[in-house]
Amino acid sequence: MKTASNLAFVAAAFSATGVAAAGTPVLAPRASTTLTPITVTGNACELTRAAAFYQGTDRFYIRGVDYQPGGGSGTVSDPIADSAGCTRDIEYFTQLGINAVRVYAVDNTANHDTCMNALEAAGIYLILDTDTPNYSINRADPAPSYNSVYLQSVFATIDAFANYTNTLGFLSGNEVINNVTNTNCGPYVKAVTRDMKQYIGSRGYRSIPVGYSAADVDANQGILGQYLNCGSDDERADFYSINDYSWCDPSSFTTSGWDTLIKNYTGYSIPLFMSEYGCITNKRVFTEVSALYSTEMTSVFSGGLVYEYSEEGNNYGLVTIDGTTVTITDQFTDLKNAYANTTNPTGNGGASTSTDASTCPAANENWTPTNDDLPAIPSAAEALMKTGAGTAPGLSGAGSQDAGTSDNESTGTATAGSGTVTSTASASGSSSSKKSDGAMVAALDMKVFSAGMVVLMGMVGGMALL
Ligand SMILES: *[C@@H]1O[C@H](CO)[C@@H](O)[C@H](O)[C@H]1NC(C)=O
Ligand SMILES: *[C@@H]1O[C@H](CO)[C@@H](O)[C@H](O)[C@H]1NC(C)=O
Ligand SMILES: *[C@@H]1O[C@H](CO)[C@@H](O)[C@H](O)[C@H]1NC(C)=O
Ligand SMILES: *[C@@H]1O[C@H](CO)[C@@H](O)[C@H](O)[C@H]1NC(C)=O
Ligand SMILES: *[C@@H]1O[C@H](CO)[C@@H](O)[C@H](O)[C@H]1NC(C)=O
Ligand SMILES: *[C@@H]1O[C@H](CO)[C@@H](O)[C@H](O)[C@H]1NC(C)=O
Repeated sequence: MKTASNLAFVAAAFSATGVAAAGTPVLAPRASTTLTPITVTGNACELTRAAAFYQGTDRFYIRGVDYQPGGGSGTVSDPIADSAGCTRDIEYFTQLGINAVRVYAVDNTANHDTCMNALEAAGIYLILDTDTPNYSINRADPAPSYNSVYLQSVFATIDAFANYTNTLGFLSGNEVINNVTNTNCGPYVKAVTRDMKQYIGSRGYRSIPVGYSAADVDANQGILGQYLNCGSDDERADFYSINDYSWCDPSSFTTSGWDTLIKNYTGYSIPLFMSEYGCITNKRVFTEVSALYSTEMTSVFSGGLVYEYSEEGNNYGLVTIDGTTVTITDQFTDLKNAYANTTNPTGNGGASTSTDASTCPAANENWTPTNDDLPAIPSAAEALMKTGAGTAPGLSGAGSQDAGTSDNESTGTATAGSGTVTSTASASGSSSSKKSDGAMVAALDMKVFSAGMVVLMGMVGGMALL
């Protein structure tokens, strides 16, 4: 993906630490998972970008649920480090017939072998947010929070999960931008995405896709997608994902506004999926599942994840958990039936064959970045490209948002650091019921429906995603 222009390649040889030289992806021995890795390249031999995920040469559609028992705010616990809980829940994942879970926060000091292997045995991939409540970008004041203490935690999480072949991808942020008032965070989330790609490449890991999960904010969700897919290849996201609550049963392709969504993203050149969906305004019976995997949607979307597996006090739970006991709800059964009733399209599902970067969006009343300048990676974080992240801080570390100092904040702007990006990018609705809440900490906005929080639905003149 990286063309020679902006990136000074460093021929780093990390043989001393057992990591392959940059540009030579290795599948590490300790992680025993062997599920075929998901790629964003249409053909593993040709290494061309595609607007879809692939499992080998077959198009791959995400069918999953969001998974964070205990919730994602306050003191979070790591569900992938909880072997008993994981084993308890995988039985229900299998009943649902899913192939992926998204986890919002993990403890990067913990051992995840048991759960990752059990997930693999069930044919389930992990989509993982690398932020935690204490280690995240502060949407109210992003510049100081983009520092090397934060990036060290992110990189340590990559180290902890890179060896598992069923790590489908990493999310560099969740709903950091959740309003028209904080689009100034755009350069920071894009820089984190860039840095993660570079770290994965520099450490010689498999080309694990890196993307971002965008809040359901009509005014800028599409613009952000455009922004994260514009510019040089080393800074473009490998995929984009949106949280979408616009299909509220009973609904339809047109009533939900998904028809407009498709129009807006037609030709978008990286994989796109719903990182959260499932409106609960009325009783949900998941009629959108058959729509999501129909060719009307698969020309643009690669499936999605229902929010969410466990009941956490906001009525989005498919099951309730009490210790070792899981009790399913009607929603669980309805989702199970909807998945069972829905097959994937054959062949390529109408995926776009465009590989072109989007045009960087112009500034307007809903979008403040005026160009594609990104903050340079803090030099202390860049050094980790060569040494590895080292000791992880875990969930109870002192945190990073206030850790910015002149020694570890960004100085200046740059497309990328000197690390290596590998083959990931190699060759070449208005009825929405749920809007983001406005917490200060960007990492984990769990869904609190706030009535009347319909944010500025203004039109963006002439927006085009390509
Ligand atoms: C991943 O594999 C590398 C290479 O074998 C190894 O050094 C490293 O410890 C492994 N990491 C984890 C978290 O298992
Ligand atoms: C951040 O800066 C502080 C103060 O200069 C320094 O002690 C610390 O090592 C730095 N941390 C990282 C990860 O760069
Ligand atoms: C489609 O894009 C327009 C801006 O061009 C935006 O106003 C509208 O909310 C978007 N609709 C959907 C469903 O994404
Ligand atoms: C099953 O799928 C068909 C079309 O594929 C759809 O019309 C029907 O509503 C679906 N039923 C359920 C229960 O999802
Ligand atoms: C952040 O770290 C502190 C310990 O420094 C811990 O008490 C707190 O629970 C952590 N915050 C979260 C949200 O986990
Ligand atoms: C978005 O910003 C406006 C203006 O500051 C504010 O009134 C509104 O509450 C914010 N919405 C969210 C979701 O933070």
